[in-house]
Amino acid sequence: MIRGIAHVGIGVKSLDEALRFYRDTLGLEHHKTEVVRGGLIRAALLHLGDTEIELLEPLSADMPLARRGEGLHHIALVTDDATAEMARLREQGVQPLQEAPERGLSGLVFFLPPKAYHGALIEIEEPAG
Ligand code: CO
Repeated sequence: MIRGIAHVGIGVKSLDEALRFYRDTLGLEHHKTEVVRGGLIRAALLHLGDTEIELLEPLSADMPLARRGEGLHHIALVTDDATAEMARLREQGVQPLQEAPERGLSGLVFFLPPKAYHGALIEIEEPAG
């Protein structure tokens, strides 16, 4: 079951520069930075009420995140069980981008291809403990 928004992901050129705005100017609490996706993305999480903002800096120039430039990138929806949700969506005819949920910055995640689902990149996330 989908039960809320885990975070909104934003592509940025420079994580350090973006943090000066989201953390210092807006005043959001930055609580995590990690290199994810096998060294391809430097990502940061900031608390925003019950949800979060995720900033994504591409570390390779020829990846889709870099080619797409800065701006809104994806919306992550919360589920209690990413594996069960993936199976349920497959039964509905949905083809996720991953074979199985993967460990992401903030939990167990998989993505749905935007071209098939009305243009928005949707991430499904089972938050870590
Ligand atoms: Co995300």
